[in-house]
Amino acid sequence: MRVSTLIRAALVAVTASTAAASGADIVSALNNVDSETADLQSTVEDWSGGLLGSIPIVTQSAHVLSAINDGTDTAEDSDPLTTEEALSIATAVSTLATTVNGTMTALINAHDDFEHLLLAPIVLLDLKTQKSASDDMSAAIIAKVPQALQAIATNLAAPIAASFEQAIEVFSLSNGI
Ligand SMILES: *[C@@H]1O[C@H](CO)[C@@H](O)[C@H](O)[C@H]1NC(C)=O
Repeated sequence: MRVSTLIRAALVAVTASTAAASGADIVSALNNVDSETADLQSTVEDWSGGLLGSIPIVTQSAHVLSAINDGTDTAEDSDPLTTEEALSIATAVSTLATTVNGTMTALINAHDDFEHLLLAPIVLLDLKTQKSASDDMSAAIIAKVPQALQAIATNLAAPIAASFEQAIEVFSLSNGI
């Protein structure tokens, strides 16, 4: 075997073993964000407005952030997606958009309780951090989508940012510490 052939074989092996994430990994990361976000929604909806009961909300909110950051890492590690992979991700993104809408609605509905406990600024900070992380995740995913589908992907992700924006607006107006 010639040296150049050996080098090429080695390169192929390295490329194959480092091509970690794929469309399926992104779908599973998005489903994880969806499930953590849905948990946050039910934690907020079950909250009776007391100080102690607000602790699980803060904890679950951190889980959402960490799931979003995992999603960004997974997308960044992924190879460029095939059209078929991009379509399966589209479904996961619209499911997530519906969940984020419900969660932001629950937070908006609970705003007065957070404000009463002077916790509204903490929620606001969480929301801003999550929105920024979520924007990064969307950008990382869209970057891997085939060129022809990027505009559609951008439109699909837009309602997620818009839902965060609505909640951020409500919590920006609150009194607090
Ligand atoms: C949720 O979706 C409805 C219907 O599209 C929209 O009117 C509402 O503003 C959204 N709310 C949030 C918080 O995203």
